Amino acid sequence: MTTQNRQLIVKTWPNGLPRREDFELVDGPMPVLGDAQIMIRNLWLSIDPYYRHSLGPRFLGTPFRRPGDVMMGVTLGEVVESKDPTIPVGRHITTLFGDMQDYAVVSGRDARLLPDDVFGPGKLPLSTALGVAGIPGLTAYAGLIDHGKPRPGETFVVSSASGCVGATAGQLARIMGLRAVGIAGAPEKLAWTVDKAGFDACVSYKSPDFAAELAAACPRGIDINMEHVGGAVLAATLPLMTVHGRVVMSGLIDQYNKDVAPPGPNWGVILVKRLHVSGLRVFEYLDLMPEYERLIAPLILDGSFAYVEDIKEGLEEAPLSLARVLTGGNFGKSLIHIADHA
Ligand SMILES: NC(=O)c1ccc[n+]([C@@H]2O[C@H](COP(=O)([O-])OP(=O)(O)OC[C@H]3O[C@@H](n4cnc5c(N)ncnc54)[C@H](OP(=O)(O)O)[C@@H]3O)[C@@H](O)[C@H]2O)c1
Repeated sequence: MTTQNRQLIVKTWPNGLPRREDFELVDGPMPVLGDAQIMIRNLWLSIDPYYRHSLGPRFLGTPFRRPGDVMMGVTLGEVVESKDPTIPVGRHITTLFGDMQDYAVVSGRDARLLPDDVFGPGKLPLSTALGVAGIPGLTAYAGLIDHGKPRPGETFVVSSASGCVGATAGQLARIMGLRAVGIAGAPEKLAWTVDKAGFDACVSYKSPDFAAELAAACPRGIDINMEHVGGAVLAATLPLMTVHGRVVMSGLIDQYNKDVAPPGPNWGVILVKRLHVSGLRVFEYLDLMPEYERLIAPLILDGSFAYVEDIKEGLEEAPLSLARVLTGGNFGKSLIHIADHA
């Protein structure tokens, strides 16, 4: 076996877009196999937008890779040695921990053995196990099914539409009977998304009329938005959402090269912490009122529940009370006493 393991080492954390000079290709040591581990020869390396988070102090993600480290990378490899009885030599696996190098040793638990009946000669090409039939495809499927809760006839919008996740999500949405609308950049990507991937429409976020074109492509509004960009793209999408629409915060590629968070809320927190953010309008819950009254009344009556009322006398006080509510001049529930019961 070869004793050479070419490795792409992080030289410096990039400032903005990663450059070739930020990395160095070296002849590194061969990894050593431990218990329950496998050694793979990497055949394919996936390039994913989120790698950028690992390089440097970021407001999104964690700087997992420091200068001197082998650069991270999801890989597909051929098993060349194995101390895991469930993963035989000669089989193909994918792993999040293969890194940018020729050979890697990973725990058997961190490897996914590719099923022979799905990948290989006469079946899916191996490369698809890192793309449309791999983690990016799964992202599209899980985002659509589990977060989007799709229903036939609804409108599904996805940004980065010609990308692996976006194109997969849009096509799955079409198969499930939804209207699929993509957002992408270059004209050839818009054309591919509609002509080859079968989206109902695709609009360019680079168009000066982007917001109007998106609205025209979604005449009944947007029921599900799978967000991959953020910034101006997200800003154009949100106002078009229908009541009870679902926003799947899946990526913010517009922000990955920024070291400092743009002004306004940090949407990345929603993504990284898998938050559920939902709009509340109480008028949909009036049938809960009897239940609530019976919960709160005894607690108020036995003195265990605190409340404050800020009461003014006479209708003429109403305008000023409203002003006080809006400026913090009230303390507690603002009320006007108009008259007593006759
Ligand atoms: N939530 C998850 O677990 C998860 C998993 C995997 C991926 N993702 C996310 O999915 C998104 C796409 O990933 P992918 O694997 O499909 O990538 P991809 O196939 O490499 O596609 C990336 C595309 O994004 C577009 N893009 C890049 N920078 C942009 C910007 N500043 N503004 C608008 N569009 C931009 C580009 O197309 P245009 O020419 O159209 O600009 C680019 O070709 C990313 O946000 C990624 O983080 C999320």
